[in-house]
Amino acid sequence: MIKTASFVCSNSRVDKLPAADKPEYAFIGRSNVGKSSLINAITNHKGLAKTSQTPGKTQLINHFIINNEWYIVDLPGYGYAKASKTNRAQWEKFIRRYLNLRENLQCVFVLVDSRLSPQKIDLDFCYNLGEWAIPFVLVFTKADKQSQAKSKKNMEDFFTALSEWFEEIPPHFLTSSESRSGCDEITAFIEDINTRFNSAAAPDTND
Ligand code: GTP
Ligand code: MG
Repeated sequence: MIKTASFVCSNSRVDKLPAADKPEYAFIGRSNVGKSSLINAITNHKGLAKTSQTPGKTQLINHFIINNEWYIVDLPGYGYAKASKTNRAQWEKFIRRYLNLRENLQCVFVLVDSRLSPQKIDLDFCYNLGEWAIPFVLVFTKADKQSQAKSKKNMEDFFTALSEWFEEIPPHFLTSSESRSGCDEITAFIEDINTRFNSAAAPDTND
């Protein structure tokens, strides 16, 4: 259960992040897919992460601390149409560094718009995570915007496309930041990983 959630810091540099001593979960996905809104819905804190109708709102690596035990990270989105080539290349380098260097990162949450058929940009990003051997799960967003049947169809099509590269389909969630559907399932998933992180960190008393 989430009792407390607060903002820690925003960073443009991977070498300035908070100490890597707590389990960390990063939210990433296309610009405007609903990353910041979902963080607010999961934590039940409306203004925690800054949201906007205009894509490209989140520009930095934003750390939030939950229950004083784990970090949730809001990352800038990819595929922002108005970004210049230089900006895009910078984003790629910055995100690649963060994802590959952050040793306490437990799992990446890749957010995908449940209203859309599979998009190359999302599939490519999943492929990269696979190449880098970074564990990820899929979170389909904005479920309140269409029928469940439509969301399920888009999800199934996404899994079919992914199965060209992946033997196993990663864990997945269908969510809405409006209704909070799927949010408690995500928290439970994270808390399960936290338990394992803590037992791995605890000294072996049998020695
Ligand atoms: P960037 O930071 O620009 O990459 O965007 P983001 O992925 O953080 O998206 P953000 O949370 O700012 O949401 C973008 C827009 O989508 C806002 O207008 C939100 O209100 C809306 N939105 C996000 N999630 C949902 C949802 O589950 N349902 C509905 N109906 N709208 C949503
Ligand atoms: Mg955002």
